[in-house]
Amino acid sequence: MTGQWQEAMQLDELWEGEMAGVEVGGEKVLLMNIDGDVRAYRNRCPHQAWALDEGDFDGETLTCSRHLWVFDARSGSGVNPDNCRLTSFPCRVDEDGTIRVDVG
Ligand code: FES
Repeated sequence: MTGQWQEAMQLDELWEGEMAGVEVGGEKVLLMNIDGDVRAYRNRCPHQAWALDEGDFDGETLTCSRHLWVFDARSGSGVNPDNCRLTSFPCRVDEDGTIRVDVG
């Protein structure tokens, strides 16, 4: 399956500064609401594949709970260390507030 916008959750269930782990099309996805902008990433740390929704999200950065790697939530870039990045998925919010993700 390619290029399918699948329903992930409703925007009013994901408040600003919150994150949620969801499953979309058999893929574990991490949704984050950064000041109203929603981002979708694979819910696996690029270090050792730990579930990222068990980490800490302060509204701007995400810290993996396993070995405390830190990522910029908006860009997915590694902050510490800075030579890694989260795997992102295309994400959009429909007019009715449905968050949709294309997991490819
Ligand atoms: S598994 Fe995330 S920092 Fe090691």
